[in-house]
Amino acid sequence: RRVSVVVRADGQINPSIRKSEEKVADFVKASELPKPKAVFCRCWRAEKFPYCDGAHLKHNKETGDNVGPLVIDTAAA
Ligand code: FES
Repeated sequence: RRVSVVVRADGQINPSIRKSEEKVADFVKASELPKPKAVFCRCWRAEKFPYCDGAHLKHNKETGDNVGPLVIDTAAA
């Protein structure tokens, strides 16, 4: 299976999220994670970043990439 990956000429992964910040870092208290799961974006395209909103599906379809979220099972936490 052939997978193509789009690499920006400037080497940046983040196309538009909070670009005025020196570094995009988010802190979430474990006790405040939603149940039964917390789903975090790893494609840097979610409107509600750092949470996944499904934007990776469009990105993958357009680019042939295969990115997806980090899903934390919080049901038993
Ligand atoms: Fe980015 Fe789902 S929207 S991983």
